[in-house]
Amino acid sequence: MTATPTPTPAGRYPAGGQAFPHRDLTGIGHLETHEIMFLLDEAEQWVALNRQPSKHTDVLSGLTIINAFFENSTRTLLSFEIAGKRLGADVVNMQAAQSSLKKGETLIDTAVTLNAMRADAIVIRHASSGAVQLIADKVDCPVLNAGDGQHEHPTQALLDALALRYALKEKGRSEFAEGFWGLKVTICGDILHSRVARSNILCLTALGAEVRVCAPPALMPDGIETMGAAAFTDFDSALDGADVVMMLRLQNERMSGQFIPSPREYRHLYGLTAGRLERAAPQALIMHPGPMNRGVEIDSDIADLADSSIITRQVEMGVAIRMACLEVLTRRARGVDGWSAGEWA
Ligand code: CP
Repeated sequence: MTATPTPTPAGRYPAGGQAFPHRDLTGIGHLETHEIMFLLDEAEQWVALNRQPSKHTDVLSGLTIINAFFENSTRTLLSFEIAGKRLGADVVNMQAAQSSLKKGETLIDTAVTLNAMRADAIVIRHASSGAVQLIADKVDCPVLNAGDGQHEHPTQALLDALALRYALKEKGRSEFAEGFWGLKVTICGDILHSRVARSNILCLTALGAEVRVCAPPALMPDGIETMGAAAFTDFDSALDGADVVMMLRLQNERMSGQFIPSPREYRHLYGLTAGRLERAAPQALIMHPGPMNRGVEIDSDIADLADSSIITRQVEMGVAIRMACLEVLTRRARGVDGWSAGEWA
């Protein structure tokens, strides 16, 4: 069975392609609040589809999507692959470890090569901040950032916002149906190296949330307050009355040198334990983008709390958000929504 998507209600956003006029999704920092809301609203139809036994549409039939991941991934790679396939596209995953980059080819030459194969969208993960923009500047099709160094991970922030929207709705918090005005969100972990933290600060503050970030002094970037977040080094203070607690792992792969005395000491000061969670608001929601280091930044019994933890919900929303991003960004190529087909080429 082929399902028919239900578009966002007419009149809620600017007409035609102006609801989301960007060719690429390289970061949340480039987006207006109504553009974030548009992607979240668009994703709801895909949440509904993904909950049906038959999850296939042919909306992107005939299109080719290349997932080029130059850094490890489980959730993001698989969910982009599933998203593209559920939309009916041909999806190809480039294995960076077996690519010609290993023979000395430059990233730009790789990008030009992918472009010559006439991909209709390219999804990139790379260890270097700015690598995704570099590739976007060299190709003719939409580019989606699946995480670049310490810079941004925009689809993670969008899926986190969507997971929050659903969880708050289920808890009867109707005041958050159109945004997160007044919602207190504490993000704790390796803020310095985290693209997830950066994209989430941008996304959550755009949607009205009061964002606190917490890290040891060595893992707190200078000037984080300029992004609109309040900075804490004391986790107990950062947790006071929080409606949402988002835990992040230590990004050891991005650390050169010793940033914490030991994992045991880190857990003592910054790990989310049952005792510490009592400082947050009753029934506070627990989030983690994964992969988790259980027993370091979060205790297992907290990560698995049935009523409060929405960690697996985040993963579910990842597929829907990536479907929304792929569908919206390929509207020009498909000549829908007022665009002329192939306008980027
Ligand atoms: N959250 C996240 O980006 O997970 P992966 O590294 O598994 O994709």
